[in-house]
Amino acid sequence: MSRKASFYLLTDVHYVSPKNWVEGKPFTLRERGDQIALKATPQILDTFLEKILADDTTDTVVFTGDNVNNGDLNSHEEFRARCGKLAAAGKKVYVINATHDYCGAGDDENGFGACRYTETGTEPIPFLRKAELFDYYYDFGPKQAISVHRESRSYVVRLCDGVRLVMIDDNGNGRSHCGLFEDGVAWLKDELEKARAAGDAVLLATHHPVLPPLDVYAHMAEFEMYGGYRELWEIMCEYGVRAVFTGHTHMHSIRKYEDDQGRYFYDIATIALANSAGMMRYVKVDADEGVCDVSCVGIETLNGVDTGGKTAYEYLYPINFPGIFERLLPLGAKDADAFIEAAEGVLPVDKLKKFRFAIRPACRKAMKLKLSALAKLGGTWKTLTPEQRAEAKEKKVIDAAFKILRSIYPGNGPFPPDTTENIVLTGVVRKLDIIVRKRKIEAVQKLIPPGSSLVEMAQDVLYNTRTGDDDNLCFPL
Ligand SMILES: [Fe+2]
Ligand SMILES: [Fe+2]
Repeated sequence: MSRKASFYLLTDVHYVSPKNWVEGKPFTLRERGDQIALKATPQILDTFLEKILADDTTDTVVFTGDNVNNGDLNSHEEFRARCGKLAAAGKKVYVINATHDYCGAGDDENGFGACRYTETGTEPIPFLRKAELFDYYYDFGPKQAISVHRESRSYVVRLCDGVRLVMIDDNGNGRSHCGLFEDGVAWLKDELEKARAAGDAVLLATHHPVLPPLDVYAHMAEFEMYGGYRELWEIMCEYGVRAVFTGHTHMHSIRKYEDDQGRYFYDIATIALANSAGMMRYVKVDADEGVCDVSCVGIETLNGVDTGGKTAYEYLYPINFPGIFERLLPLGAKDADAFIEAAEGVLPVDKLKKFRFAIRPACRKAMKLKLSALAKLGGTWKTLTPEQRAEAKEKKVIDAAFKILRSIYPGNGPFPPDTTENIVLTGVVRKLDIIVRKRKIEAVQKLIPPGSSLVEMAQDVLYNTRTGDDDNLCFPL
């Protein structure tokens, strides 16, 4: 076995079999609500797989859960067939599953229900239960493993001599604890001991985030984090595990944790494959050099779909919420009823109907508002240079807002601290911070993580406050 290896990592494929839906409102609304390109998932996956198959220097492919969207058997069969195709081409395929990959049997908190979307509603279809996943995907991970924790379906594989990959399956209760239980933690520590004794480096992969992409994520939705994430921080630092690959948030992010002794690790989260900006990670390890190199690969075209000459991103963009809003605003400026109809499944239509009268003026105003107006409102106008003032008079707030929204999932926010947009928007948020604190507006205060502020929260989406690059990272193993 060589002491070098490389692998592709794909997460949150959310594959939906074409057998599971017909064109109509029920599935269209599901797609809008889920904010991923569900209808095109077979073509998205196949286009990525073509890239992988064309690369004969990389023999390993890793899937980190939410491989299908609703735990149904049709989608699992088609997804597993694709794993088989990769294996037939000589690839080692390592799969773990997550909450979207099974349907609860009433014994945990998983609420997914497998269904087929008809023109008017849904009908139940066969699905997999959690206990069936191990055998179903046995050929893709457990079979090649040097150790298996049967209860959690987690396992360890060798990427190459000197580097092991621990695939931690989603051994939770389907919602509020998606991580290992005591027995699994003991197994993990034992495996890390063995790797240490052998002098091997270790990488981890699991579905749920170990570090949140944004602080507000862990604050508002701690149950979405890896179950026992703080304990895993300690374990990773203790055993010198430098990286965990995650998914679930559908956001691309690379974040570092460092403890008070200077021990550290990275959570390398990969955007959902089914996002309009979906990407896979490409990871190279070299045991002799002691280096791991992480980058990412997207697709330019979407094969198997008539996109009318559009790129994959351009074609899929209208499904994600920035794309929806980008279409909604000009629509609302002209026609409130068309706005309400197009917003169904994304915005609360009942509430919109009550404020129907305000939709056109609000959309018109929003489309015209310049950054200069916000600079005056936020008290930053005087701090801007003459060049920045000229820029603020030219630029529309809405364009900045869309740039920020477009970067939420793919990461690398567009406006670092010295940009006009950052200065102006931060000024407005700073004023809001003061108002919220003075008036004790609880509805907003409870959104702010302890020790943080709206200004700090805004910086997280205005630019990359993490490692500076959500796409690439090189670190010592
Ligand atoms: Fe997901
Ligand atoms: Fe998930």
